[in-house]
Amino acid sequence: MFKSPLGMKDILPDEAYLWQDIENKAKEIFCIYGYAPIATPILEDSRLFNRTLGSETEIVKKQMFLVKRTHEEYCLRPEGTAAIARAYLENNLEKKAGFTKFYYIGPMFRAERPQKGRLRQFHHIGVEAIGANSPCIDSEVISLADSILRELGIDGCKIKINSLGCLKDKSTLAKILSAALKDKIKNLCDDCRQRLGRNVFRILDCKNEACKKVVCELGLDYETYLCGDCLGHFQAVKQNLDNINVAYTYEAALVRGLDYYTRTVFEITHSSSGLGSQDAIGAGGRYDNLISELGGPQLGAVGFALGIERMLLAINKKAQLPSQNLQVFIVTLGNKAKKEGFVLLNRLRKEGIPSEIDYEDKSLKAQMRLSNDKGVRFAGLLGENELEKKVVTLKDMKLGTQEEINIDTFIEELKTKLREER
Ligand code: HAM
Repeated sequence: MFKSPLGMKDILPDEAYLWQDIENKAKEIFCIYGYAPIATPILEDSRLFNRTLGSETEIVKKQMFLVKRTHEEYCLRPEGTAAIARAYLENNLEKKAGFTKFYYIGPMFRAERPQKGRLRQFHHIGVEAIGANSPCIDSEVISLADSILRELGIDGCKIKINSLGCLKDKSTLAKILSAALKDKIKNLCDDCRQRLGRNVFRILDCKNEACKKVVCELGLDYETYLCGDCLGHFQAVKQNLDNINVAYTYEAALVRGLDYYTRTVFEITHSSSGLGSQDAIGAGGRYDNLISELGGPQLGAVGFALGIERMLLAINKKAQLPSQNLQVFIVTLGNKAKKEGFVLLNRLRKEGIPSEIDYEDKSLKAQMRLSNDKGVRFAGLLGENELEKKVVTLKDMKLGTQEEINIDTFIEELKTKLREER
């Protein structure tokens, strides 16, 4: 027996209905906030991510799924932001559309060690607002993520925010961190000792308890490294959030695991037991240098991605299965009647009447039982007798009555009966 690839799951109808609910709710909210849909290929040039996410990130170092052909090398996209920045530039959208707010929903791939809430194929609902520096847009995307989670009934989320500042500020912060951590090097894990010389920010993401303790004791504070502009920007983002009652906490050590972030960064966690240590439901931030890094102009941009699988773990409920509200079951006896019945079924559906037929060559009795199980109001019986007389025997499953109706007027008469029923 074949199995699905490690860390990749089938989404069966029971769960898929819940996914549909989540996607539909998110799309409704995106429409209200003015975000337009965008879809990019699942494969991208792997250099796109090498360039933008950072050579020291776990994703680039260990988690890319490479797809090689003779002269080409692609990867399964590990995230959406760099891909959308690429699409924005490639399609000349900075000239054609200017500031644009996108949303996307789709699979992402990272070759991680699978565990609960951590998959190799997972799905993002994300937004990217490209072409503006206003702190209002940072606050908007944070409140948008918050709204989606609330509308889905995922209460008890915590929003943590920080600002890394511009590139200059980030470099100041890196110096402050390096100086502070050098004295504590003996308390850091082996990986973090390496990171100290290569990319000190990654130490702040380390899950090792000893490293976390060291970081916590550093007493970081944004006022020590943000320049005047970035400080003003961060204060405005927070002020906007206060003004629209979006609760957040400032987290000095929040840097996020991707190198492209500048200024605002945020993470949304949930304490559901279903999530365990993978408690980040979503995350995002500003990436004001990503577009220029890819050869475009200097454009401010900000976005987030929510992980659908982690949202499902936090929701922890079953989908409300949509009811097909089946009205008619066509019951046939014999081959000729089956063919006629199939034509009748098609006519019913074209008229918008939810109808079904037996596809398993069941006996007449079993077809009647099935009609009953499906809860239809009417069964339309077709046998040799009916074909000869050019009628359909319509059985009212609720009243137990039955009558013959001319096959040519069947649909019209049935529609009248269904209308009366309502
Ligand atoms: P990220 O933090 O790497 O950010 O991913 C966002 C969310 O995706 C996480 O908070 C988590 O819920 C989910 N996620 C990540 N990895 C996995 C996994 N292996 N299994 C299950 N769920 C996972 C980004 O990808 C950025 N592109 C977000 C962004 C958009 N920043 C700006 N714009």
